[in-house]
Amino acid sequence: MELCFVRRCNNRKDLTVEPITEAEQISNIAFGFMASKALFVALHMNVFTNLSGKSKSATALAADAGVPENRMTTIMTALNAIGLVTREGDEYSNSPGADAFLVQGARYDFGDYLRLQIDRQMYPFMQQLEGVVTDEMSPDDVDSYAKWMENEEEARLYSESQHAGSLGPGRSLARMIDFSGVDHLLDVAGGTGGLSIRLCEANKNLRSTILDFPNVIKLGEQKVAEVGLADRISFMGGNALETEWPTDVGAVLMSYLFNGVPGDAIPELARHAFDVIKPGGLFVVHDFMVEDDRSGPHLAALWQLQHLAFTPAAKSITPSWVSGVMEGSGFTNIQVEVLIPGMTKVVWGYKPA
Ligand SMILES: C[S@@+](CC[C@H](N)C(=O)[O-])C[C@H]1O[C@@H](n2cnc3c(N)ncnc32)[C@H](O)[C@@H]1O
Repeated sequence: MELCFVRRCNNRKDLTVEPITEAEQISNIAFGFMASKALFVALHMNVFTNLSGKSKSATALAADAGVPENRMTTIMTALNAIGLVTREGDEYSNSPGADAFLVQGARYDFGDYLRLQIDRQMYPFMQQLEGVVTDEMSPDDVDSYAKWMENEEEARLYSESQHAGSLGPGRSLARMIDFSGVDHLLDVAGGTGGLSIRLCEANKNLRSTILDFPNVIKLGEQKVAEVGLADRISFMGGNALETEWPTDVGAVLMSYLFNGVPGDAIPELARHAFDVIKPGGLFVVHDFMVEDDRSGPHLAALWQLQHLAFTPAAKSITPSWVSGVMEGSGFTNIQVEVLIPGMTKVVWGYKPA
């Protein structure tokens, strides 16, 4: 079954979606969640790690995981059908992609992020989507990051996997934008510091203050101490929409905040950033953004849908709209770049000197 619904999956630059013509293509979308679950359950059962560097039968993999053989056979059959593993005789091996990205400890491993944040948290949130759209949410539903992060265990689970996922993009951001003249960064909704850590590592004169919810910053303090940056990265617990911010900072960063707040709050966040940044300072916004003509990329569009499932007043943002908001707040020399291909963009500008 061809599960890829973009034109040429192997070419990362070409992510345009073809208009659908066949019922089978609709089935691939409708039943795509089954493939997601095949991947997630395999991660929970350590399948890809157990196949690292060797091939094994379903019987052996079942014994490794301590589960009945019939269930592992069904899982392995599904994984083989969707291309995550290959099969020769009774033995399964990892596909090259599974080896590179799903084996624990591999250089580009993001299995824990998929297993913990995407399967345990994002996947169930999608059950709320219809109620969000029709204004029929149940009282227990999560309708904001603030409510979600009140739960200490949820905040820990989310932040642990987000941290790992942000260290790579943080390195790219440090290469893309010149922070060398910035003394003090205010990292609004900075989580556990994945981006601040990379920016401070790359800019020896930079210190950062991270503002995020109290249950998030508890873990952040540990993460920052582990990498020896506790003297340069500090934390403030609170809701960015309500808490007082430090003033006279050299830069403000908002990464993955705009999609997780009501759209109406975004212009106020930009104005607030303008007020606290020193003349000549920098304002950086990083987030899932669809193109100005709303043609995609499909993963950016789907991530915005995912945020809508727990942020009913969220807005589907584009680079032009974000640039306009920044200009409207007084920022100039605005630039736009892709950070994570097919998913996120960075928009940045400067407060006039
Ligand atoms: C996807 S994480 C991104 C963390 C970090 N900015 C990064 O890029 O790695 C989103 C973060 O935004 C925080 N957040 C969302 N809404 C917030 C608000 N109103 N005030 C403070 N933090 C908020 C969440 O708690 C979470 O840590």
